Amino acid sequence: MAGHKLAGPQRLSLGHDPIPAFDVRLDEADVEAVAQTLRSGWLTMGPRIEAFEAEFGRHLGVQHAVATSSATAALHLAYLAAGVGPGDEVIVPGITFVATAAAARYCGARPVLAEVLGQHDLSIDPEDVVARIGPRTKALCAVHYAGYAAPMAALREICEAHGVALIEDAAHSPSATVPGEERKLGTLGLAGAFSFFSNKIISCGEGGLLATADDEVAAFARSRRSHAIAATRSATTSWTPASTTVWTSRGRRCCRPGCRASRPTSPSAGGSPTAIGRCSARCRA
Ligand SMILES: Cc1ncc(COP(=O)(O)O)c(C=O)c1O
Repeated sequence: MAGHKLAGPQRLSLGHDPIPAFDVRLDEADVEAVAQTLRSGWLTMGPRIEAFEAEFGRHLGVQHAVATSSATAALHLAYLAAGVGPGDEVIVPGITFVATAAAARYCGARPVLAEVLGQHDLSIDPEDVVARIGPRTKALCAVHYAGYAAPMAALREICEAHGVALIEDAAHSPSATVPGEERKLGTLGLAGAFSFFSNKIISCGEGGLLATADDEVAAFARSRRSHAIAATRSATTSWTPASTTVWTSRGRRCCRPGCRASRPTSPSAGGSPTAIGRCSARCRA
């Protein structure tokens, strides 16, 4: 339709139908699944999340898939797990969604913008990455942006040579592979972040996931994704018997009702999880 009007302050006369950036398609099965979830009382972090984590992790071929509230949260957790803190630097591509850089700020770190390869490829430029690595560089985030897979082999080599953690922002690339690499994008670094926001390839309104092969990163993300509460909760907030420890900044604490046992980790561990263990106190959680 000629002269179709777009909503918003700036109206463009395209001379043809606008091509939508995305299109949300939901069928009756999706609506029914939501209704079933609401009826079940598990409004957050229930059995459906566990099933999705297992299925998505299997699909990616990765040991751990940890659901989060967004890819931004997954990036934040990935940076923290990589040890990014105040005064550190995280190298990110100059062209990406703001969350890649903002998550570094959430850790108190400084995002350092590196050039992308050019108009023909919006991926971060490995040569420019090398030029920007300094003593404070703690992590590099490779973004698989808008269909351009970041050059992971070159970036991994650089990260290994400089002792820098390699994180992947795979918000745009669930299930994608590149020639010569069997593993899926988002599983090639220390941790990968996926997005299920409404305009993404797999959409559920809001949501994200951290994928990792590293047991400690997974335990850290599971703990920190929900205020260090490891237990799942139903709408009635009863604790499930399977998970009864929470991580605190000083160690882990049993959260079975009535048990206040606390077993700090070593001071040098700074509260980082090593392994989720059982409560040694009387409750035998
Ligand atoms: C490249 C990239 N990274 C991260 C995000 C953040 O995703 P979320 O909205 O799930 O936090 C987006 C969202 O558009 C994105 O495009």
